[in-house]
This record gives sequence, structure tokens and C-alpha cells, in this order.
Amino acid sequence: MTAVLTRHHDVLAALHAPEQFSNKVSSHLNVPNGMDGAEHKAFRALIEPFFSDVVLTQFQPKLQVVIDELLDNLDAHDDVEIMATLGHPFALRAQCAFMGWPVALEQRLTEWMAAQNAATLKQDRPALRALADEFSHIVVEQFERARRGLTDPESVTSQLTQLRLSGEPLPDDYLVSIVRNWTVGELGTIAAAVGSIVGFLAQNPVVQKQLRAAPMHIDHAIDEILRLDAPLLTNRRRTTCPVGFGDQSFEANTTVAIDWRAANTDPEVFVEPRQFKWDRDPHLNLLYGAGVHVCPGKPLAQLELGLFTRSLLNKFETIRLGEQPFERAQPPRGGYRKIWVKFNH
Ligand code: HEM
Repeated sequence: MTAVLTRHHDVLAALHAPEQFSNKVSSHLNVPNGMDGAEHKAFRALIEPFFSDVVLTQFQPKLQVVIDELLDNLDAHDDVEIMATLGHPFALRAQCAFMGWPVALEQRLTEWMAAQNAATLKQDRPALRALADEFSHIVVEQFERARRGLTDPESVTSQLTQLRLSGEPLPDDYLVSIVRNWTVGELGTIAAAVGSIVGFLAQNPVVQKQLRAAPMHIDHAIDEILRLDAPLLTNRRRTTCPVGFGDQSFEANTTVAIDWRAANTDPEVFVEPRQFKWDRDPHLNLLYGAGVHVCPGKPLAQLELGLFTRSLLNKFETIRLGEQPFERAQPPRGGYRKIWVKFNH
């Protein structure tokens, strides 16, 4: 059985002790999340510029187009199921736009994601292996297009093919792994975050009103909403030596799960942990992790979720829960599986 860290204090201690809590948990290549030490540092340095202010400022108008198209095409006469109509399509289209991928790829990736979700829930290992190969194939095709000059040279995909480590281009399996880390993990996280944000707004008309009046607080509110309703539930570590925390001790080589939801609602750190509060200390929020593996995609995630929420609040004067009861997602997914919302009625 995997050991679990649930207390905020213990999670923080583990995140800041990467020599004792290694990220090399599986034998699969996972760039950079499955790496430690100097190797991890080198790959972090390669990917961080992809989330710089300059890149995100250029991406913002393209992201706004994605959001406007989704919201303009929304049939809001009836109750809207948020995950199917906004959460998943938004996560996928925003990611395709960020990567500079052709629109035609969206349908292929939508089908791939549905199959991946089904296989993950069933823990169907042969299906997951076949899906991993299919993903590599899809992404390598995009790298080949970029290398043949068929993609905008400024696009993230083209720029990835230009990366060099010690003067050498990165092999395709490393490039695929980088994109897998950004896509496979993060599409589900962004989709879950969208569902949680809309679900929270639909159930909290006062916060909705406050944010319409003061949209500059949207990013702050989103971080607090997602502290309450974690879109990403766990990450793992492996102990490199015997480690003790209070009444918990782990042998060397123990796989330890970090429970983000538990840590972020730890009553020892958060007063009334399940209440939304405006005046929390943002430094205590572990939504994007901490330490050397802290989320490098945080600025992109904040841009996507912030712009989406601002546009949604601008477009609809009221957001309320729909008639059908919502269904929560089951681990390893966070947020909602289905949630119906009424817009403007
Ligand atoms: C609401 C959205 C997101 C949340 C809540 C989130 C959360 C996290 C957390 C908690 C970690 C730390 C994992 C650990 O300690 O093992 C992490 C790592 C990471 N995230 Fe995010 N993330 C989000 C969006 C994104 C996006 C959009 C991208 C890129 C497109 C991204 C790329 C990464 C990568 C590459 C890592 C691994 C970093 C490393 O190991 O050094 N994330 N994320």
C-alpha cells in the first residue's frame, strides 16, 4: 500500500527535501517531473522560458479567440453540462492553440483523451500502453511537420524542436515526454479546474457579484476556489532513506503519495478550511506545489483560468445550478464528473 502525506506541514517538509523524497518513482521517462537533482535542474531550465511573460502575452489574443468561440457557440437556453461543453473542450483547444497545433488535431486528441480517461479509470494497463504509443505518434508527427518548416517557426512546437542540451538536440522521446507532461496530466487538471470554478460561482452568487464588480480579484478568488476543490489530487515521491515525521515513519524505498486536497484543507493551517475566505495567506496555498518541482505552468494555467472566468462573468449576468444534481469525479480525477448550470435564467 502507498503511504500518504496529508498534513500541510509534512507535505511542505517533503517538497523541500528532494534528496530524501525522490521524484524517480516509475521507470518511465517523465521530463521533468520524474527527475531529480542536476538532471531535473537542466530540463527545468529548458522548459521554463515557454511560460515567460513574453510568450504568454503573445498567446493571450489567441486564447481569447478560443474562449469567445466556445462561449458564443454555447446553447444557453437549456441547462448546460459544464464539463462536456466547456471544461474538456476549453482545456484541449487552449492547449492546441498554445502548442500551435492544427485545428484538425483537436478531434483526434478528443478521442484519444476519452479512451485515456476510460483506461485510467479501469486501470487497463495494456490499453494505457497502446494509448501512450499513439500519443507519441501524434506528437512526433507534429515535430516532423515543424522540422519540415510546415509550422509557424515561432510556435511552441517549432521552438521545442530547437532545444539543445550540451549543444545536442533533444531526442524525440524526451520531447514527447515534455509534451506528455504538459498535455496528458494538465488537460485533465485544467478541465477539472473549469468545472470547479463554474460550480463554485453557480453556488455562490455573492462571490459572483463581488467579482463582477472587482474583476481584478478573479485570480485570487480562483486560487482559493481551487484550494477548496483540488483539480489535481496527488503526486508521488520515493524515499531514498528512512524518514520520520511525527508519528509517521517510512522505510527507504517507500512510495509516498502527496495528498494535495488534504494538505490544502488542513485545519491546523487553514481556519474553517472548507470555507471560501478572501483573506487567506496565498503563500500557504499548495495548489501549484512548492520546492524544486513547483508547477512551471502556473502562469499559463492562471492566464487560461483567469481569462476564461472573466469572459464568462462578462457574458452572463447570472450563473446558477441547473435542475439535475451534479456528480463528483472519482479519484484520480478531481472536481466534477458532470455539473449542470443555468446561464441568464
Ligand atoms: C490548474 C492547473 C494546474 C495545477 C493545479 C497544477 C499543479 C501542479 C503541481 C501541484 C505540481 C507539482 C507536482 C509535484 O510536486 O510533483 C505541478 C508540476 C508541473 N506542472 Fe502543473 N499544474 C497546473 C497546470 C499546468 C500547466 C497548464 C502546465 C503546462 C502546460 C503544467 C506543467 C507542469 C509541469 C511540467 C510540472 C512538473 C514540474 C517539475 O517536476 O519540475 N501545469 N503542477
